[in-house]
Amino acid sequence: MRTAYHDALGDHFAGHAETSPYNAYTDRPAMLALAGDVSGARVLDVGCGAGHYAAELVARGARVVGVDGSATLLGHARARVGGRAELLLHDLEEPLGFAADASFDGALCALVYEHVRDRARLLGELRRVLRPGGWLLVSTTHPTADWQHFGGSYFSHDWRDLPLGDSGLSIHYQRLPLETFLGELLAAGFVLEHLTEPRPTAELREVDEAAYDRLHRAPSFLAVRLRRP
Ligand SMILES: C[S@@+](CC[C@H](N)C(=O)[O-])C[C@H]1O[C@@H](n2cnc3c(N)ncnc32)[C@H](O)[C@@H]1O
Repeated sequence: MRTAYHDALGDHFAGHAETSPYNAYTDRPAMLALAGDVSGARVLDVGCGAGHYAAELVARGARVVGVDGSATLLGHARARVGGRAELLLHDLEEPLGFAADASFDGALCALVYEHVRDRARLLGELRRVLRPGGWLLVSTTHPTADWQHFGGSYFSHDWRDLPLGDSGLSIHYQRLPLETFLGELLAAGFVLEHLTEPRPTAELREVDEAAYDRLHRAPSFLAVRLRRP
């Protein structure tokens, strides 16, 4: 579980996810809009981090199971959602052995996909645990943002360390061109329903106008809604 956000990285991310222009104002609102009405749905939060999504989904009436490979972040998630969601320590490189076939109506995988090495197996498992007609939401770093940041070839599949500001911490993930990202999801048998390049919500302008302008000029994330046939 090298890619999970352990210890200081987990604590740093938990604070960051709470208010950052990227997570709080861009990725999360876009993914929650893609989720739509989740009332009564059983939802798997894949790589639940500090539980920001789980808390929001529960507030919207979903029954949530959240999994993450970081005990540090699960601690933050437990503090945030208490007993209102089931939270499990789980390495996403391993099968979802805790979940029965067709036992979820939806699954959400926010900014986690690019951290996982055996993505074909994870997608196979998500297909197994989703009911026919169930939905899968996936967000990832925008390939052009990675290209701008790391340079080299747009088509690179390099594993990279992205430093987080001046914290001395970094996250480890794989650059994925658009055709790889989408190609893998389609090859796993999911059907694409919607693709969006999330822009920050208007509230960010009040809080951080420079970030609002920056994120409206160049995309940072890509998000898709898929259906399990
Ligand atoms: C960018 S954070 C996103 C967290 C949450 N989805 C959100 O958007 O707030 C990436 C998450 O993936 C988790 N992660 C990375 N690799 C993992 C693995 N192999 N197994 C389980 N979790 C992993 C990290 O611990 C971290 O919580």
